[in-house]
Amino acid sequence: MLPVNQGSDFARESDFIYMSLFWLSVFFFVGITFATVYFSWRYRYKAGRVTPHQTHNTALEVIWTVIPTIIVVGIFFWGVNGYMKFAVAPGEAMEIQVVGKQWLWTFEFPDGTRSVNELHVPVNKNIRLVMSSEDVLHDFYIPDMRIKRDIVPGRYTQEWFRANDQAIGEHVSTCAEYCGKGHSDMHAKVFVDTAADFDKWMATGGTEYLDYAPEAWGKIQWDRKGCSTCHSTDGSQNKGPTWKGIWGTMVKLNNGQSVLVDEAYVRESMMQPQAKIVAGFDPIMPTFQGLLRENEIRGLIAYIKSLK
Ligand code: CUA
Repeated sequence: MLPVNQGSDFARESDFIYMSLFWLSVFFFVGITFATVYFSWRYRYKAGRVTPHQTHNTALEVIWTVIPTIIVVGIFFWGVNGYMKFAVAPGEAMEIQVVGKQWLWTFEFPDGTRSVNELHVPVNKNIRLVMSSEDVLHDFYIPDMRIKRDIVPGRYTQEWFRANDQAIGEHVSTCAEYCGKGHSDMHAKVFVDTAADFDKWMATGGTEYLDYAPEAWGKIQWDRKGCSTCHSTDGSQNKGPTWKGIWGTMVKLNNGQSVLVDEAYVRESMMQPQAKIVAGFDPIMPTFQGLLRENEIRGLIAYIKSLK
């Protein structure tokens, strides 16, 4: 009856309780209004008519106390039941971190994949959103899923949902707590993917890399993946060789040999760091096998190339 999508089980339940309350209110509003108008007319002033002396009517008083009490307490427990289902995520839920800040959303998936203003979820899977704020109050609201909860600075809040088959496709989410002048622009797209599409999206690590030139993407990975803790990009020496000016040069290894710094060498150094150790450094680098995607490796190589 409402012209909106019901993308989750909550949607059906919440619409049902909402419409029930609506029609219950309509019923009593119409009933009480008509009774008021009718009695006003029926017992209007008439010359010579005297109102009989009334004290009370026990049967009537019991009815108008007991029936509304049953209705109101019933609604309370109905609401609590729905709220408890929403408040506590089932144990086997995929956990996605949601960070709100003025005025955008970032999402982080279990494997470390991050995206900005774009949330992908697999269909028919329990999704638990663990939410935090970097600045002020926000509220992550996905209308089609009927989920909405405040995000409070310095605290974690959570909400969960399970998108159904007819929800496959694109939805919107929005911030539902006034958070400054960009509040009304604080939208993210929510994509409900089939299992195969979701895997494909995860394999490329989202589409964030498309927003950057390869060397800029590499610089971001240098920072995010922790390369920056050992490799400087300004020529200063750290626990690992600096990246500045090494591309295309021959570097001396600790076994006396030399190797050309090219794509193959850089890639091997990420995947099997112990294979070739640069002279003067300890073999302390961990492998990044399985931790870097192709687009990230390409980005890092482009970044090293750009550091003349
Ligand atoms: Cu964030 Cu309003």
